[in-house]
Amino acid sequence: MFTRLVCISDYEQHAKSILPKSIYDYYISGANDQETLADNVAAFSRWKLYPRMLRNVAEVDLSTSILGQRVSMPICAGATAMQCMAHEDGELATVRACRSLGTGMMLSSWSTSSIEEVAEASPETLRWLQLYIYKDREITKQLVQRAERKGYKAIFLTVDTPYLGNRFDDVRNRFKLPPQLRMKNFETNDLAFSPKENFGDNSGLATYVNKLIDPSINWEDIKWLRGLTSLPIVAKGILRGDDAREAVKHGLNGILVSNHGARQLDGVPATIDALPEIVEAVEGKVEVFLDGGVRKGTDVLKALALGAKAVFVGRPIIWGLASQGEKGVQDVLEILKEEFRLALALSGCQNVKVIDKTLVRKNPSAVSKI
Ligand SMILES: Cc1cc2nc3c(=O)[nH]c(=O)nc-3n(C[C@H](O)[C@H](O)[C@H](O)COP(=O)(O)O)c2cc1C
Repeated sequence: MFTRLVCISDYEQHAKSILPKSIYDYYISGANDQETLADNVAAFSRWKLYPRMLRNVAEVDLSTSILGQRVSMPICAGATAMQCMAHEDGELATVRACRSLGTGMMLSSWSTSSIEEVAEASPETLRWLQLYIYKDREITKQLVQRAERKGYKAIFLTVDTPYLGNRFDDVRNRFKLPPQLRMKNFETNDLAFSPKENFGDNSGLATYVNKLIDPSINWEDIKWLRGLTSLPIVAKGILRGDDAREAVKHGLNGILVSNHGARQLDGVPATIDALPEIVEAVEGKVEVFLDGGVRKGTDVLKALALGAKAVFVGRPIIWGLASQGEKGVQDVLEILKEEFRLALALSGCQNVKVIDKTLVRKNPSAVSKI
């Protein structure tokens, strides 16, 4: 069907044409009416770039650091659960592709390859663990300690999921894992979301979360988590300045501005629109990152101009995996890298350090509609 896949939306269309429907639906879905899902992408277009000219961009350096670790570019693989549904190599393909690009990977707690398997597939790749807090705190403690032992460099604590967002297609499809897969970080069938276990007649994953994930977590629990590990801890899923200040006050080391790919509370702002308030609130005390709707090099430039240190991509990695495993993820990351390089150069930036907020302004017609 496609002669060549040249941009992220080509990969998405291709993945849609080859993935089984219920799996594609799980990956693509947002919550409820998916207002925020569309807005995450559309909002980037409401910010306009104001490039500088005649700045000698013969050499452009994309490299930066994340929580003190060097990366070749400010674009990393975000945490998406159950990647072996997209391709049999799943998370192992993703971590190897990240190695080829010199960038980092955030591993979901709900991965279909374990913390150890991913580390062993590419020990030298910069890796972080995304964490959910289980009602049984011992389970959470073990995840953190296993990640630290295996050289993961930070914990990204997801703070937006006391319950799972309502994703209509997952309910319609009675979403569960295919028979050969399980969440590999866990031993027992219930914790591993094994299809051998009965997760009811709705979205199996929503049932899983209701049963096992702790909805009572609050700022006090950060102390407990802090006591488990010396790794940096980043709050994933902050959308307000006051919450960002609270995170800093509680000793967290970074903020990931995220609405979980629009899969939790529908009607929240696009992440690019939420970013400026959070950057302002933290006053440079911690690094701020962004995910949600990043599909182009210019999206990355806009996020950095508004104060993000780096961005994470979720679904684009899945589309690459589905299309061609490790090679597909590598291609997706290469596309984003080259698009970002071109966007930087055409904006008169020789490196990421010279990106500043004068490079973007909200489109005046978008502002007047508010
Ligand atoms: C299929 C899928 C699975 C996800 N799984 C997780 C997860 O296990 N833990 C988590 O914190 N976020 C999860 N997310 C949210 C992502 O980490 C990220 O916030 C989001 O995908 C970014 O938006 P994007 O897909 O538009 O790039 C998931 C998102 C998708 C699309």
